[in-house]
Amino acid sequence: GARLGLLLDLSITPPDQMTIEKAKGETAYLPCKFTIDPDDQGPLDIEWLLSPADNQQLDQVIILYSGDKIYDNYHEALKGRVHFTSNDLKSGDASINVTNLQLSDIGTYQCKVKKAPGVANKKVLLTVLVKPSGTRCFVDGSEEIGNDFKIKCEPREGSLPLRYEWQKLSDSQRMPTPWLAEMTSPVITVRNATSEYSGTYSCTVQNRVGSDQCLLSLDVVPPSNKAGTIAGAVIGTLLALVIIGLIIFCCRKKRREEKYEKEVHHDIREDVPPPKSRTSTARSYIGSNHSSLGSMSPSNMEGYSKTQYNQVPSEDFDRAPQSPTLPPAKVAAPNLSFVFKISGLHVQWCRF
Ligand SMILES: *[C@@H]1O[C@H](CO)[C@@H](O)[C@H](O)[C@H]1NC(C)=O
Ligand SMILES: *[C@@H]1O[C@H](CO)[C@@H](O)[C@H](O)[C@H]1NC(C)=O
Repeated sequence: GARLGLLLDLSITPPDQMTIEKAKGETAYLPCKFTIDPDDQGPLDIEWLLSPADNQQLDQVIILYSGDKIYDNYHEALKGRVHFTSNDLKSGDASINVTNLQLSDIGTYQCKVKKAPGVANKKVLLTVLVKPSGTRCFVDGSEEIGNDFKIKCEPREGSLPLRYEWQKLSDSQRMPTPWLAEMTSPVITVRNATSEYSGTYSCTVQNRVGSDQCLLSLDVVPPSNKAGTIAGAVIGTLLALVIIGLIIFCCRKKRREEKYEKEVHHDIREDVPPPKSRTSTARSYIGSNHSSLGSMSPSNMEGYSKTQYNQVPSEDFDRAPQSPTLPPAKVAAPNLSFVFKISGLHVQWCRF
């Protein structure tokens, strides 16, 4: 009769309730088409309500058409994301688009159309799913011949239910027979591995709104090979460290010794006896020091020793009473030439 004059056009969509499934971030088109009976003379009002998935919350208006105006600032969570798709609502299209879908948009959407005396409404169930993404393929265990390990396929996110499928991409492209039972599982348990398992595999994860894939390169090697490779790498690294350590050590030592040499010279100065008590032995020691300096060190060393030697008389004269003894000089002399020989060697090394 007259009250049914306003009808929703149900020729495209199921009459009572329909379900729409979309991926997060996508746009959902919620259809609501109607026809107006000539008897319906009242003003046209269109209202979309949302009943969120958790039934705790009341139905909320999300967009309204009334008095030829559109109001869409009702629901904070949907702000700016709900639009009528038609520019001319009177033509019978009250469908909306919800853009950039979020999981919080899941719920029942109700389209209510009023043009008195006609009324009609229609419900659309919206489900938002997360596409599988960030999928990682990896080996859990040690991929050695004779070993047991697992190969795994793990998406970072993705709505359930998820479907998995493993494939071999290399060689014969045939999955190892013992694995066939687990070809559609996120984890394949490999037992008593053989080198024939080596190759490239892919895992495809799929749900109703999308799919993702990862690749796995499996290299099943003899245990000894692997141990050898690791040992080789470790030994190589250690050797490099030792060589670097030696270079640093010897360069530092050289620098320390350069400092030390100055101190040693100071000692000589002290040990040189006053001119008065100088004996032939003492002179010969000084002479030998001199020659070793001359042969092992750059010329500036000679300069050092000369200057200091020249200074000797005045200073040592004062000190003569405290340290007139020759024995310390005897001990110092051989040590000194040893130090210089070593440091001469280091100079060569560090310049290398
Ligand atoms: C509504 O969304 C659909 C995709 O779901 C798109 O094809 C259509 O152009 C959109 N309409 C408007 C008016 O944005
Ligand atoms: C593992 O495989 C080798 C040959 O591939 C076979 O000789 C051996 O018996 C197997 N071991 C076990 C425990 O199944």
